[in-house]
Amino acid sequence: MDKHTRLGNALRGLPVDRPPVWFMRQAGRYMAEYRKIRERVSFLELCGDSDLATEVTCQPVDRFDVDAAIVFSDILTIPEAMGMEVRFDKGSGPRLPAPLRSAADVAALRQPDVADALPIVPATLRKFRKTRPDVPILGFAGAPFTLLCYMVEGSGSKNWEHVKRMLFGDPDTARLLLDRLADMVGDYLQSQIDAGAAGVQMFDTWAGVLSPEDFERFALPATQRAFARVKGAPRVFFTRDTSPFLHFVPQTGADAVALDWRVDMARARAELGAMPVQGNLDPMALFAPPAEIRRRVHRIIDAAGPLGHVFNLGHGVTPTTPIAGVEAMIAAVIERG
Ligand code: CP3
Repeated sequence: MDKHTRLGNALRGLPVDRPPVWFMRQAGRYMAEYRKIRERVSFLELCGDSDLATEVTCQPVDRFDVDAAIVFSDILTIPEAMGMEVRFDKGSGPRLPAPLRSAADVAALRQPDVADALPIVPATLRKFRKTRPDVPILGFAGAPFTLLCYMVEGSGSKNWEHVKRMLFGDPDTARLLLDRLADMVGDYLQSQIDAGAAGVQMFDTWAGVLSPEDFERFALPATQRAFARVKGAPRVFFTRDTSPFLHFVPQTGADAVALDWRVDMARARAELGAMPVQGNLDPMALFAPPAEIRRRVHRIIDAAGPLGHVFNLGHGVTPTTPIAGVEAMIAAVIERG
């Protein structure tokens, strides 16, 4: 079965010879090829050049027998396109030096046309499809709530104090920002499908810091609004802590859900029925001996069942992950064919 059919069928719940496999952050610092490029160009330069981004997107596809690529970029391109400065200083995560703290800050954001403001990812998708027509490529964007987190807090955070001050103290401003982000996110995902993405994944990495009530009030309607603008390819929804929100997933408008490793796959299958799922190996399992990796991979595949499963990690691969662990994971999926 060719890779396009395998991924497309799995994301639609149709028969496959075995689950397709790709993994989050599959292009990144755990690969020597990636580190070599990063010696001469910064991360933001990589994200801003579609030739370099295509080269990096190809790296894991050339090295491993993965069934899909994911376009190389970052979720913080949208805040940048709306006029915010975004920095990636060495050793720390992203930093936005002028975070949004008031209605006036939100009002000052630009709302550009996505085609004008965010051309790099669609260009990268087109170049990848020319270079590797045999491999489907996925697009992505941050979810409105996760983008709000970085834009309001100004960086990653443990307690997200400024985010929660805004949600609880000035919910109208938070909702206005979420609505504006949802429109950007939806149009951005659609532009990626129009450029040939085989599916699109929305990363709501930080939604898990919300109570179920606040998820329903803030994150869920924004995700619905974004996905409502997207058609033509499967839409995948990811949160880093899916467990408390599993029952909301069918309401997001997603066609499939990417599960983190803290949800038991058998429970997810029981609760979600036939909805296609993606996941959900603990990324740190790649540090285990090959036989243990194999056992865990097969346990997940058996629990997910034969239809509607894309094998993946439960979150991104970490920078010190051994290549041998990645190879053991992929081999364990492929041998099920
Ligand atoms: O999955 C892929 O291979 C595609 C590329 C991709 C990156 N970021 C590359 C990247 C994707 C899909 C993302 C999404 C992203 N970016 C998310 C959502 C997914 C998740 O991980 O939960 C988030 C929250 C971000 C924001 C972001 N970008 C953070 C928190 C960091 C720092 C992480 C770290 O470990 O330092 C980044 C930087 C980043 N994004 C790197 C890569 C390869 C590392 C950059 C480098 O130093 O080379």
